[in-house]
Amino acid sequence: MQSLNEQFELIRQSATVAMSDRIIALKASGKKIVGLQVGDPDFGTPPAVIEESLKAMQSGLTHYGPSNGTLELRKAIAAKLLRDEGVTYNPDSEILVTHGGIHAYYTGMQSILNPGDDVLIPDPSWATHSNMVTMLRGNVIRVPAPAENGFIPFFESWEKALTTKTRIIVLNYPSNPTGAYPSREYLQKLQDFAKANDLWIVSDEVYGSLYYEGRPTSAAAIEGAKERTLIVNSLSKSYAMTGWRVGFLAAPARVIENAQKAGQNSITCVAPFIQKAATFALTDPAIQEVTANMRAGYGRRRELVIRLSHELECERVRIIPPQGAFYFFLDLRPLKMTSVEMCEKILDEYGVGLVPGSAFGEQGEGFIRMSIAASDEDVEAGFRKIVEWAEKQ
Ligand SMILES: Cc1ncc(COP(=O)(O)O)c(C=O)c1O
Repeated sequence: MQSLNEQFELIRQSATVAMSDRIIALKASGKKIVGLQVGDPDFGTPPAVIEESLKAMQSGLTHYGPSNGTLELRKAIAAKLLRDEGVTYNPDSEILVTHGGIHAYYTGMQSILNPGDDVLIPDPSWATHSNMVTMLRGNVIRVPAPAENGFIPFFESWEKALTTKTRIIVLNYPSNPTGAYPSREYLQKLQDFAKANDLWIVSDEVYGSLYYEGRPTSAAAIEGAKERTLIVNSLSKSYAMTGWRVGFLAAPARVIENAQKAGQNSITCVAPFIQKAATFALTDPAIQEVTANMRAGYGRRRELVIRLSHELECERVRIIPPQGAFYFFLDLRPLKMTSVEMCEKILDEYGVGLVPGSAFGEQGEGFIRMSIAASDEDVEAGFRKIVEWAEKQ
């Protein structure tokens, strides 16, 4: 028999996918499910953005476009990075338009990673961060980010994890699944550490505009950091545009040169009518208001869960209020069950869809991820059911 790429044997099927298959099957059998497993905004894409893409299609933007993205969109991205993060990027050489944040991460990692390189990734974190490294034949070294330290690694843990083969640190703040993000001082220290050890920092900031405390600092916003930092971002979460598949990589020109080749040879370009709509979404003032309202909506649901948690006083379901993103990483360690077991039981017995914390790494064992990208009613009903279930164990 012909052989396959053996790297894929090292990648487990994501528990998120397995759980969502189970939920689809239950729904198909007629069971009512409160779906709090989703990582997709429940808000619709703003209608004016849809209009813009329709107009673009009708005007003939239905052919290939430039492989690094239209200049118009690259300029809009540079303006957004300056406006929101205070970092200046040259739209001609330091920005690549990508097929969502995941493709920005892929092209970025492809550009800098050599087989056998060690990559430091906090645990817990979104599974793709480590799976991509494995696909590209790098070695993942997990750096514990314990709940006891607000899901941020103790600084010494980075030092302990460092090897002579370490080339890259991957960050994702606000984090999926915890919503945590570190202080500017912490990022400064980490950038100093990266500089001293000649490391790249790849910073996934797709949840960067969804925050409920002080605005998170971009990893590139630290003085001198830009030359060693790759920013991954997209319109998916911030503009409720997950299905449009549009994002960007912002990085030093020599990285973008490689990334453009990776993009050219994998997707050719992002659809030009989608780029037109993305430009409009990033620049139109009314759309910025729509997205601010979405953020306020998530903030309201976050408050709702905090309030319910106080009201229900359940010792077995501890919450650590997220600083950003749209998830609660609920701490059910007192129950002493695996997170897969808990999620299966809550789904089967109480009809609530969740994601097991272990899908995000060893440190996530005993936790479950509950999304608040769902209606207020579902968030309230879902959280109440989780607590009710936990009380009965
Ligand atoms: C941390 C993180 N990065 C990137 C992505 C991918 O987003 P995009 O739709 O922009 O590819 C996700 C999606 O869930 C995510 O959680």
